[in-house]
Amino acid sequence: MKQTAWVIRLEEATDNTAIEDLQAEAFGPGRFARTAFRIRENVPHRTDLSFVGLAGERIAGSIRLSPIMIGASAALLLGPLTVAPDFKNRGLGKALMRVAMETAERAGDKLVLLVGDAPYYSPFGFRQVPFGKVTLPGPVDPERLLIAQLNQAEMPEGMVHGGEH
Ligand SMILES: CC(C)(COP(=O)(O)OP(=O)(O)OC[C@H]1O[C@@H](n2cnc3c(N)ncnc32)[C@H](O)[C@@H]1OP(=O)(O)O)[C@@H](O)C(=O)NCCC(=O)NCCS
Repeated sequence: MKQTAWVIRLEEATDNTAIEDLQAEAFGPGRFARTAFRIRENVPHRTDLSFVGLAGERIAGSIRLSPIMIGASAALLLGPLTVAPDFKNRGLGKALMRVAMETAERAGDKLVLLVGDAPYYSPFGFRQVPFGKVTLPGPVDPERLLIAQLNQAEMPEGMVHGGEH
């Protein structure tokens, strides 16, 4: 893998169009029907935990975390994590993951949930949610429902819904 030293900074309001273009390219028009997208609907992402990676002036990748509840536990939903096709496999996705997870831990956040491939996310502390513990308001492959417990958090239980804490 060709490694690049990425410039990563907090997302700004003016980045929104470029980020939406990245997401449209990565996930296509069906993205709004995805369960994770639907949970995030009408929930603003955390501006202190959402980052972009720059290639010169261009936004090459983005990560967002949004507040959710899992039962009675405050948590975060990670995603989308998106890297532009031109910049894939150069370490940007992992760099964005590292920055977002370290910042969330330092901010005192306790739980991060995501829907994604375990082999990619397990180096960042994610593991499969024990079957049946956490219910989403739509279909999700249980093997792709992953959670990271930060700051000695306990495994949560219950239904997921979007919402500010
Ligand atoms: C998944 C994604 C964010 C990875 O970003 P990236 O910057 O290309 O990846 P990195 O350079 O950080 O890491 C590359 C490594 O991860 C591996 N990898 C990439 N996607 C993977 C996946 N879905 N499952 C397992 N491994 C994966 C690559 O094979 C590569 O392995 P290597 O280090 O052994 O060569 C990017 O490919 C993307 O935007 N995909 C489309 C959107 C998506 O699926 N997002 C994740 C779900 S929200």
